[in-house]
Amino acid sequence: MDRMLRAARPGARSVDEITGSRRMRRMRKADWSRRLVQENRLSVDDLIWPIFIIDGENRREPIDAMPGVFRLTIDIAVEEVEKAARLGVPAIATFPNVDHSLRDQTGSEILNPDNLLNRASRAIKAAVPQIGIITDAALDPFTSHGHDGILRDGTIVNDETVRQIAEAAVLQAAAGADIIAPSDMMDGRIGAVRDALNEAGFGDVAIMSYATKFASAFYGPYREAIGTAGLLKGDKKTYYLDHANSEEAVREAEQDVDEGADMLMVKPGLPYLDIIRRLKDELGLPTFAYQVSGEYSMIKAAAAHGWIDGEKVMMETLLSFKRAGCDGILTYFAPEVAALLNKRG
Ligand code: PBG
Repeated sequence: MDRMLRAARPGARSVDEITGSRRMRRMRKADWSRRLVQENRLSVDDLIWPIFIIDGENRREPIDAMPGVFRLTIDIAVEEVEKAARLGVPAIATFPNVDHSLRDQTGSEILNPDNLLNRASRAIKAAVPQIGIITDAALDPFTSHGHDGILRDGTIVNDETVRQIAEAAVLQAAAGADIIAPSDMMDGRIGAVRDALNEAGFGDVAIMSYATKFASAFYGPYREAIGTAGLLKGDKKTYYLDHANSEEAVREAEQDVDEGADMLMVKPGLPYLDIIRRLKDELGLPTFAYQVSGEYSMIKAAAAHGWIDGEKVMMETLLSFKRAGCDGILTYFAPEVAALLNKRG
């Protein structure tokens, strides 16, 4: 009470005197003025849709930990991708849930030109040529231990894994992938993939480096989606980045740029907006965030309880990636957001 009285006393400075007549709220007063000064926007062109593929026909398997996301057989995936293309989504990223009988210690199935992933690329490319296909060259969907590399005597061996990834990347390009996105964090993989693609005549196939992929607890639902949750022993800390480090993240990304990366990705997304901003400012490449499964599921779960407005939170998180400097976002929300943005016009 005392303070309010003092503030109101004659001779006290008015707010206009304090601010020099500057009023931040002038432009916030109406919808039209807020729209006029809005600095960042999310558009359908920013979206990349990650999808999960299974073998078989005409099946759509729900994923418990990811409400609203399904594992799709190739025929259904083609239909869904067609719909996404009609909504204007520029690209998809495919992840296979490979039959467990095909998984082994070295992930050798990744070298099968007709594996599930490559068959999906061929079918999608043939039916929906206008959408970009991004494939992950990591071994984890193909290994019996769920790691992204070849496991020998308890160690993920780097160089042997890189050779295999480079070979797999060529097969993926041959099957129709437009962008190879190696997510394994082995040293030297970007340069090796670039050389292999060039030698095989795929000089125009781009590389999106999962440049800064952090050892994160946010990947849990994805591991259920591709069936690695029950397989994985230990963690991925010997190859993914320590989530305490940002200098190391920049060095890692710089190395990938030197080796020929065309685009960079930060993964997970929301807890790493500072890294996105640093990579954009310091390296200037097209930069993407992967809003990963755990981020998606947290929003869905809280919304299902009525604790948050799921749609608003989804839009706010996606716009925050743009504000942080992203050119685009990999998000399981892609078709939902695209439909919403198209409706708003
Ligand atoms: C592994 C890979 C991961 C994701 C995609 N590829 C992480 C992991 O399992 O360690 C995570 C995607 C997500 O959580 O949505 N190469």
